[in-house]
Amino acid sequence: MNENIPVHVGIIMDGNGRWATERNLPRTMGHKNGVKTLKKLCSHVFKRGVKVLSVYAFSTENFKRETSEVQFLMDLFVDSFYNEFLFLKENNVKVIFSGRREPLPASVLKSMDKLVDETKDMTGPIFNICLNYGGQDEIVDMVKKISLLVKDDVLQIDDITKDLVNSNLYQELPPLDFVIRTSGEQRISNFMPYQSAYAEYYFPKVYFPDFSEKEFDIAIEEFQKRNRRFGGNSK
Ligand code: FPP
Repeated sequence: MNENIPVHVGIIMDGNGRWATERNLPRTMGHKNGVKTLKKLCSHVFKRGVKVLSVYAFSTENFKRETSEVQFLMDLFVDSFYNEFLFLKENNVKVIFSGRREPLPASVLKSMDKLVDETKDMTGPIFNICLNYGGQDEIVDMVKKISLLVKDDVLQIDDITKDLVNSNLYQELPPLDFVIRTSGEQRISNFMPYQSAYAEYYFPKVYFPDFSEKEFDIAIEEFQKRNRRFGGNSK
């Protein structure tokens, strides 16, 4: 068996709305079924040996959606973090978040903080939830943090390296090896651009609620066929 399992996998969970619309259901039902899919997927992904899973739950741009959909998603996050994701602790998974806290409602922040606190001592895989996240904002925030350190003489310009940049992002994580975007759209929409410099991309046609454990295994088989060169010669 090919044991080449990506260390860090990213999933852009796209197509919830279309999944629901095709079934004559309100878009919100797509998101609800997305949570069910994500729960099943999480257990499976970590069982397969992935060490870090990053998911795109809500982009900074998603605030432009209809107020009722944004409100539904916020409530869904609160319910998921208090109730649905507790199984992660039983599986020794540590939950972290990436993104800006402003302007998330206090109720959402509270549920995020509780989940982080409850899993902070877990020693197993990491589940990184990108919520109110934008990749360009993350780079802007990193530049501001480092600039302040230089201004205060804590750092010199020559201390700025790729590792230093990486450790001043929202979370210090290994690079993304594999990024999956469901629903057939072939773009990355501001998802972890610094971390995915050498990632392999995969764009299955299925909508996220239908992205099963089997679909994930097919994606891994595709990853294992890729010849990653990191700018060097092909083998
Ligand atoms: C994209 O589908 C999906 C989202 C903006 C929300 C993702 C959220 C979930 C899967 C809920 C579970 C997540 C957590 C962390 C509890 P879309 O609405 O853009 O679909 P469309 O492109 O078909 O309209």
